[in-house]
Formats: sequence, C-alpha cells, structure tokens
Amino acid sequence: MTTTQRFQLAPGGRLRETLRIPGDKSISHRAIMLGALADGTTHISGFLEGADSLATVAAFRAMGVSIDMLGTPGEVIIEGVGRDGLKAPATPLDMGNSGTSMRLLSGLLAAQPFVSELTGDDSLTRRPMRRVTEPLAQMGAKITTTEQGTAPLKIAAATSGLHGIDYHLPVPSAQVKSSLILAGLYASGTTCITEPAPTRDHTERMLTAFGYPLQRNHNRICVNGGGRLHATTLTIPGDISSAAFFMVGASIAPDSDLTLEAVGVNPTRTGVIAILRAMGADITLLNLREFGGEPVADIRVRSAPLHGIRIAPEHVPLAIDEFPALFIAAACAEGETILRDAAELRVKESDRIQVMAEGLTNLGIEAEALADGIRIRGGCIGGGTVTSYSDHRIAMAFAMAALRASAPIEVQDCANVSTSFPGFAALAGEAGLQIAES
Ligand code: S3P
Repeated sequence: MTTTQRFQLAPGGRLRETLRIPGDKSISHRAIMLGALADGTTHISGFLEGADSLATVAAFRAMGVSIDMLGTPGEVIIEGVGRDGLKAPATPLDMGNSGTSMRLLSGLLAAQPFVSELTGDDSLTRRPMRRVTEPLAQMGAKITTTEQGTAPLKIAAATSGLHGIDYHLPVPSAQVKSSLILAGLYASGTTCITEPAPTRDHTERMLTAFGYPLQRNHNRICVNGGGRLHATTLTIPGDISSAAFFMVGASIAPDSDLTLEAVGVNPTRTGVIAILRAMGADITLLNLREFGGEPVADIRVRSAPLHGIRIAPEHVPLAIDEFPALFIAAACAEGETILRDAAELRVKESDRIQVMAEGLTNLGIEAEALADGIRIRGGCIGGGTVTSYSDHRIAMAFAMAALRASAPIEVQDCANVSTSFPGFAALAGEAGLQIAES
C-alpha cells in the first residue's frame, strides 16, 4: 500500500452533506488503556483506527493484553488483565507520532514492577517530556530522558512503589494531568492535580465509567491509589478536532450546509465552536445526547461571513488542537484575528505557529508569527504549495483553504493525516472538497 504524500486541491467548491467523523482520538487512547487495566471484558465501538491510537493498541498487546479488532470497523474487544496484570514488554515501545500515548503511558509504566522504554518518530522525540517526568519523579518514579528532556524515556521498575503528591500544573495539559492520574491509581495515598485552566477531562469521565472513584472540585482532581477498574461497554463519539476542519470549511465556502453526526461536544473541547461563533459562524448543535458520560451532538454548519477577533485566552486550552483550522477561518475573515497565550502551539506535532504563518504567507495571506500566538489579516487566498512539516492537522487545515482559493493548492508531506483521520481525503471529497491524493 502506498501512503499519501500530497493533496492536490482545485479551488472553490462548497460542502453539503451529512457526514460521520471518525472516533475521538483522545477518548480512543484512554479506552484502550483503561480497558486493558480493568477486570473483565470491555467492548468499544467507534474506536479511531488511526496510527496514533493503534500505537497504543500495539503497546498494550506488547504487554500481554489481548485486543481484538477483527470485526466491524471501530469495534474493539479488550480482555482486561486487571490493574496488576501487565507484562514486561520485550522491546522498546514505539509510540510513533503520538504524544498522548507517550505521556499517558509514562505515568502508567512508571508504576509497574518492570523496566520499559518509550520511543517515537522524529517529531515525537523532539517534544518536551520533562513536563511528565518531573512530577512523576516527585511521586518516586525513576525515568531518564535525553539531555534535552526528550524521548527515549527509560523507565525503571517501581520496586518501592509510588506515593501521591499535590501537584499544580505549570501549563494547562490534559496529557500531563492524565499521566499523573494513571500513576496515582498505583500510588500510596492521594494524588491531587490542580490545573491553571480547564483541559479535556476524558480520563476523569472514563474512570467514572469504569467504576473508579475520583474527586473533582473546580480545577482540582484527586484520586486514591489501590482501587480497581470494572470492564464496561463504551461508544466513542466522533472527534471534534477532526470535525473542526469541516466546520471551518463549511463556514468559509459559500452556499455550504453540512451536518456532522454524533460528534463529541464535551465542554472542555468546544472552544472551536465558541471561537467560530465569535467570528460570526452559523453553527447549531442538534440532538444532544450522551455516550458513556461524554456529551454528543449533531453539528450543523452553514456558510456565514466571518470577521476577525481577538481570541479570548480562556478559549485557548479548550481549542488547543483546532488552531490550524481556525487560522484558515481567520485568513477568510474580514479584518484581523489575534491569538496570544498560545505558546503551547510551538511544541505540538510541529511548531504550529511558525508552520501556519509560513503556509499562509505562501498563499498570499498576511500572517505574523508572535512568540505566543499569531496575527492574521483576512484576505484573498491565492494558490501555491505549502508543506505540513509532517503535521496531520496542518495538512488538513490547508486542504480546507482551497475552498476559498483563487488557484490550485498543493499540500506536501501529508502521510501523517492517517494518525488522526484515516480516510480524510475520501470523506472531504464526498462532502464537496475538490481533492486528489498522490
Ligand atoms: C491530548 C491533550 C492535548 C492535545 C493532544 C491530545 C490528550 O495535549 O493537544 O492532541 O488526549 O490528552 P496537551 O496535554 O499537551 O495540551
């Protein structure tokens, strides 16, 4: 099988369809992890079969967990091994491009009675890991990183056990929070984490679904070690981070009217809707319901004239993965959009501030990279070539830009789109984007 390297996009088009977006990546990782640690058999539907969540599956298989994915797409059966049932992996665990796998697993593995090693691809081995290894060390974990604080992470056996800590996260990060919660399941006493701002709370919600008690009070989460998880049945909603490309596309392309079915609308993830609405977007949530403690809705988006805004800082952690798509909305908006307080974007799968500023500039849009954000002046998108620097979300964002471009766009380095959105080009084509892959 050849992997897609490039998207070629003809200019124009409109998005009109009812679509089903693939399962939520964050929730898919957590479902595998908690299902593996539970007592009994967990059934999952709507699992994201993307490279990132499959890296998590491979890691647990390497630790002796039976995970069956042979049936209908998205259906997964996990034979839980119980909280103390993981086996030492024979080789280093390769997390590919997946920061969530590496950071969450570091917390879980730090508490195991065996040594392990986590590694990843070029992008992942450049990303900061001290944000997890330092608080885990305070809990008694022994993890070494490179001198730069990056992977590979070498994790010693937790021979004398971990102990709970009271930790205030210096940056809002659901990955760090979740890593500490997973370590906290094994620690003596109580592990408490205080967040500077709310971040996605899928770990907390899913622990509840697996019958594990935890206390939540505003931005503080506490968990006692020593409990057990009970297998369950979960349906994973569509990923709002993947839906975001279509929300932006339908907003900017004239005469669009798109419905995205069964998308997760957890309030810790809906910053993209709040920001697009503040820019003038026409977005309606229909048929609100719940899947396994996660709010879900059908999202209808119709084209609307957008205007530039100063993005509210409280929306930043709630839309942290959606900024590449939002910058395309800003490029099509009347006036200037300013984002600050978002330095975290520089340490995602790529430096999303720099890479987006470069691509927008190539397409004729005035974009100024700032240390902690970006300033974008809406204008006419031209044609040209942009590179995603192997970042899935950059590639999909620039694909949507073609809907308002005056000439063809080629997006290079698109292989990693399959980390979060397998089948993106086919689905986007079905919706009305004029996209070819090669
Ligand atoms: C994620 C948390 C976020 C997000 C990432 C997924 C998670 O990362 O960007 O794509 O599943 O917990 P940070 O914790 O670094 O903000």
